[in-house]
Amino acid sequence: MEPQVKKVFVKTYGCQMNVYDSERMGDVLAPLGYVGTEKPEDADLVILNTCHIREKAVEKVYSELGKLRRLKRDRRASGEEMLIAVAGCVAQAEGEEIVRRESAVDLVFGPQAYHRLPQLLARHEATGRAVIEAEFPAEDKFETLGGRSPAKTVTAFLTVQEGCDKFCTFCVVPYTRGSEFSRPVAQIEAEARRLAQAGVRELTLLGQNVNAYHGLSSTGEPTTLAGLVARLSSIEGIERLRYTTSHPRDMDDDLIAAHAENPKLMPYLHLPVQAGSDRILKAMNRGHDSTHYLNLVARIRKARPDIAMSGDFIVGFPGETDADFRATLGIVREVRYAGAFSFKYSPRPGTPAAEQPQVPEDVKLARLHELQALIQAQQTAFNSSCVNRMLPVLIEKPGRDPGQLMGRSPYLQPVHLLGESALIGSIIHAHITGVGTNSLSGHYREAA
Ligand code: 5AD
Ligand code: SF4
Repeated sequence: MEPQVKKVFVKTYGCQMNVYDSERMGDVLAPLGYVGTEKPEDADLVILNTCHIREKAVEKVYSELGKLRRLKRDRRASGEEMLIAVAGCVAQAEGEEIVRRESAVDLVFGPQAYHRLPQLLARHEATGRAVIEAEFPAEDKFETLGGRSPAKTVTAFLTVQEGCDKFCTFCVVPYTRGSEFSRPVAQIEAEARRLAQAGVRELTLLGQNVNAYHGLSSTGEPTTLAGLVARLSSIEGIERLRYTTSHPRDMDDDLIAAHAENPKLMPYLHLPVQAGSDRILKAMNRGHDSTHYLNLVARIRKARPDIAMSGDFIVGFPGETDADFRATLGIVREVRYAGAFSFKYSPRPGTPAAEQPQVPEDVKLARLHELQALIQAQQTAFNSSCVNRMLPVLIEKPGRDPGQLMGRSPYLQPVHLLGESALIGSIIHAHITGVGTNSLSGHYREAA
């Protein structure tokens, strides 16, 4: 018997790994007859895939749940049901509390449990009660997930590593994503091959600590990220590889060398330092100081001089003085980023730094503005330096205007240009002629 068609609406918050996880939830639900919808009011199942990393995450989820409760009531009035599920890191952190505060919620499950969605749904149907799954199951989630449905995109995320054992004192990830785990090489290769066959040309390897990757080869040897990148770059169809997010402590010589030697590894590196003051780095439990970071950047630039550096910064960490903050501006000036993300410190319940005396909000905000202005100026300088250059652009999709295409440079900048949609999926050489706020524009010359 054909399964009855049901609709699922997934709303994704936060990092790229959540984007990956949401896609995989779709894969798990497909055999149960679920198809995706963009309209929550039409959905038989709504999943909020939540993020807990920064500010007001929990409040945002409860306010969204309030809206969903009303949709659920309206659907019930017209004789239809709607299941509401909370997934991701807020689900992991809050657990039962979610159902206590919002009784319309039917399912709560963490990032390590979504492969069990069919069982969770069955348990809900059998008992008629809310189902909460916030354990870290022992089985391999990825093994259980099985094959991935073919992508229809030119670029794709591929989770290769998950979790973190570093316990930076501001961060919830080690608590919500669990300890570090690397997927075996063969499993990742199989997924990459499937994606390549479906037309994917660029893979971004994901992990909270992606450069700590140490998955086993088929002969049981631990493999580094450099080793994995080498394997994946030999897959036919895969033209570009990226990885994110890296930790300065795990940037080994082989990975740096790969940036010099492997033309498929793109010259863009997201390498968060978080702060420039050694005192603050210590209080953050980062396990490296500013000198280590700057030396590392110098070694990476020696291997790949044109590499575009990106990073994350936190301002207003507990105890941060004005001098500490100046040290952060100092490191930004030395590195010259192509772009970076910066955030006000936000206390995360259960993490050590949340217990410390806090920097006043207005001080945090003033520091954030100053830092963001510096980063924005560096980003503009970097983008402007691309004007008049020929850059290889991987064309991803149609642009906003008719006849326009959107692609990306090796440095991850969006590039807009005019051209035939048949170019989607190929790498073309573009003459860069202009800069927007966060993008480039160019002209197409010839196929690469
Ligand atoms: N407050 C502010 N920013 C944070 N980040 C992680 N935890 C916090 C927090 N408690 C930032 C870090 C990290 C990025 C993903 O989010 O900069 O690299
Ligand atoms: Fe969080 Fe630090 Fe682990 Fe990154 S390295 S996920 S910031 S604890």
